[in-house]
Amino acid sequence: MDVFVIEGGRRLAGTIRVNGSKNAALPLMAAALLTDEPLILSDVPNLSDIRNMTRLLGELGVQSDSQKSEHGQTITHQVTDPTQSHARYEIVRTMRASISTLGPLLAKRGSARVSLPGGCAIGQRPVDLHLRGLEALGATITLDGGDIEAVAPTGTGGRLIGAPIFLGGPFGSTVLGTANIMSAATLALGTTIIESAACEPEIVDLANMLISMGAKITGAGSPRIIIEGVEELGGTNHRVMADRIEAGTYMCAAAITGSDLTLENCPLDAMMSAVDTFGHMGIHVDPIGSGNDPMRRSCVISKSGPIKPVQITTQPHPGFPTDLQAQFMALLCLSNGNSVITEKIFPERFLHVAELSRMGAQIHRQGATAVVTGVKELTGAPVMASDLRASAGLVIAALAANGTTIINRVYHIDRGYEHLEDKLAGVGASIRRANAEKFADSAMTL
Ligand code: EPU
Repeated sequence: MDVFVIEGGRRLAGTIRVNGSKNAALPLMAAALLTDEPLILSDVPNLSDIRNMTRLLGELGVQSDSQKSEHGQTITHQVTDPTQSHARYEIVRTMRASISTLGPLLAKRGSARVSLPGGCAIGQRPVDLHLRGLEALGATITLDGGDIEAVAPTGTGGRLIGAPIFLGGPFGSTVLGTANIMSAATLALGTTIIESAACEPEIVDLANMLISMGAKITGAGSPRIIIEGVEELGGTNHRVMADRIEAGTYMCAAAITGSDLTLENCPLDAMMSAVDTFGHMGIHVDPIGSGNDPMRRSCVISKSGPIKPVQITTQPHPGFPTDLQAQFMALLCLSNGNSVITEKIFPERFLHVAELSRMGAQIHRQGATAVVTGVKELTGAPVMASDLRASAGLVIAALAANGTTIINRVYHIDRGYEHLEDKLAGVGASIRRANAEKFADSAMTL
């Protein structure tokens, strides 16, 4: 197991290119199951979650060929064996986004067996809305040995039947649930209306790709998506949208170190709530250059004066994203006042609080709310990564802390950030990856 060793206090300077989005890429890859033709995805980040999805698709009869390209990797997917429709627990337990294969498998093959994902470090994470949506499209769903078994209605030639579906739950809509139902409805008989659909930019990216495959979809990006089913979808060539969470994380890195940092390939149009919050904190995000694609801009992050405290409530898009909560909390640990952070998507997503406290942060959590009292400085310490974004928050804190921070279990970070240590070291941070055991040995001999 690897650790990150970070010496805090270095100013950063230079340029970081933002990768293609992991959370967009996963359901885009699953959509390869919807067509007999090749699906070519470019700017796919090279991450363990992506490798797991490739492995899962392989078991489901999809051959994937990856080639390194100017931006990330380009993966060509081609269904070669449509008889395999079982997403096994051994893979699903490594990655919850495996559930994204359920809708496409069912819609194209008439049946699917996908292991029911369990809870994870950030909460219980049920999939009841996914299942309700597929049932509304006529599927029969049963649970067998921990697997979801879904079968299309009889008398339709294995096709689902379009229907109006309300996809709202106690915490708003569901992102992967919307991706699943929208993908499944593309091949259904008749029209589907998804009401209370997720409005996340990753859903718009998926809809755009499905449309380029021949799907008839309107309204993606709004709470009402209308899908008119078609008989078949063709292949396509699609560039994955840029990663708004990776971009926001590097913005936090710049802000906490008081650095001017340039980001390329930044989906600013999908980041308005984060950019607005930065503004209230005295951190500026200024677009630069002549590029006019608001989803692939270059920008400079800079800070004037101390970090100001703010109130943040995580919400579905276009509200403040839960996936940036931990990174902003790290930043607010060094603000000059009291901030209030309320988590409305995953009320238990606060595992980073105890670890930040080990570094000298003053955070008082009560239920889904944390009050962060800014301190003058953080101190390096050994800490434990617990989930992807919590770990990113620890990296942010470590970049500004006095002394050395050792972050254990960085495999969590590797799930969502490609070569994070190289990217940060490339702009001047003191961060390196080390083998946990070797590092412990050498630390003992110091
Ligand atoms: N929910 C239900 N029932 C469902 C589905 C969701 O009650 O059937 C609840 C969840 O428990 C949660 C809320 O609805 O409280 C939202 O969950 P959602 O389904 O939208 O989450 P997701 O689609 O499983 C994606 C991202 C997450 C991100 C969330 C919220 C991917 C692969 N994952 O998960 O990303 O936090 O949307 O924006 O796209 C991450 O990247 O670190 C990450 C966890």
